[in-house]
Amino acid sequence: MESSDNILYNNLKEAFLLREDITFLNFGSFGATPKPIFDAYQRFQQELEYEPVQFIINKGPQYLKESRVRLAEFLGCKADDLVYVPNPTYAVNIVARGLDLKPGDEVLSTNIEYGACDRTWEFYCAEKGAKYVKQEIKLPIESKEVFLADFWKGFSEKTRLVFISQITSATGLILPVKEICEEAKRRGLLVFVDGAHVPAHIHLNLTDLNADFYTGACHKWMMTPKGSSFLHVKPEHQQQLDPLVVSWGYKADFPGDSQFLDYHQFNGTRDFSAYLTIPEAIDFMKWNDWWGVAEDCRMLVQKWLPRLCELVGSKPLAPVTDEFIGQLGSIPTRCENPVELKQILYNEYKIEIPVMVQNNQVYIRYSINAFNSEDDLVKLEKVLVELKERKLIF
Ligand SMILES: Cc1ncc(COP(=O)(O)O)c(C=O)c1O
Repeated sequence: MESSDNILYNNLKEAFLLREDITFLNFGSFGATPKPIFDAYQRFQQELEYEPVQFIINKGPQYLKESRVRLAEFLGCKADDLVYVPNPTYAVNIVARGLDLKPGDEVLSTNIEYGACDRTWEFYCAEKGAKYVKQEIKLPIESKEVFLADFWKGFSEKTRLVFISQITSATGLILPVKEICEEAKRRGLLVFVDGAHVPAHIHLNLTDLNADFYTGACHKWMMTPKGSSFLHVKPEHQQQLDPLVVSWGYKADFPGDSQFLDYHQFNGTRDFSAYLTIPEAIDFMKWNDWWGVAEDCRMLVQKWLPRLCELVGSKPLAPVTDEFIGQLGSIPTRCENPVELKQILYNEYKIEIPVMVQNNQVYIRYSINAFNSEDDLVKLEKVLVELKERKLIF
């Protein structure tokens, strides 16, 4: 596999392709890809078009393997327990469909999960006669202990599996999933952790975490092109997962070493170049001291969160410490029309920032990454003051 030159950026903003005229505070939704990683993507796409057959049938699977080996090293797991999927919801669909849930069984989750995953569980639980339990989490979270006590109130004799985000979406909170995995094991439950926001955002070692199923996005904080994510499954559960799309890998004419990979890796003709850029992304992060960058960004998020919340008359959703707050800051806000508010923020103020609604509460969520500076949050503060004056938030 080709690798780009070892480019070290003094000003990391230059590495990104983002528009200059937009204050980009929404890295959290779909990430953003730096140039060297995007270049690697285009090199793979060109190689594909030079000889599509050789690429898709011969070289591609070898490249995929090399990419999985590097990702496994990064995530602290075995390469063959990982399979690439386009996005975390796809991974949740594979597991929710494949699990042998019986009528009456329960899947224990929280009421602060990602909407697409909620829908997936609702769908498959309804089909199997099982129940998706969205345990209410009291916000703001007072402490880890209170959170855990709240969460386990949703447990019953019928609980089979726990499904929980390691970093939540609208509320942008880091949740204590290690403790949940340990307690779930004591209670004999399976655990599926939704780590969409986790890889390269906070440290992750899948072997230590010991979840049965784990999904994460690479196109968010690892910055690879869109449509690159993974599903990690412990070996003892791999056999029970049917392919979401039945294709050549099912009952394969020439089976590979792993049914898990045969079933889930090949589902028809498609461009898997985004998956192949993962080694480039890992190198880019290494050369640019990414954990140092992440720490600076986290500090900036934490510095501004109490102040921005106070401005709109609310409070941070958890203690503002590394335990709960990473590179996402969610500001509970009151407003009449969140859709309009988002449009105004973008069209009038040139700020790309999500305005999300969950459980009837509106959240303005900012993300900070290498290309942001404190000036972006100074601007956000000014704009929030103006929006208050205009009575668009109150
Ligand atoms: C907590 C969480 N889970 C899962 C996802 C996956 O989203 P999708 O599968 O739509 O890309 C996201 C995306 O932002 C998320 O925040």
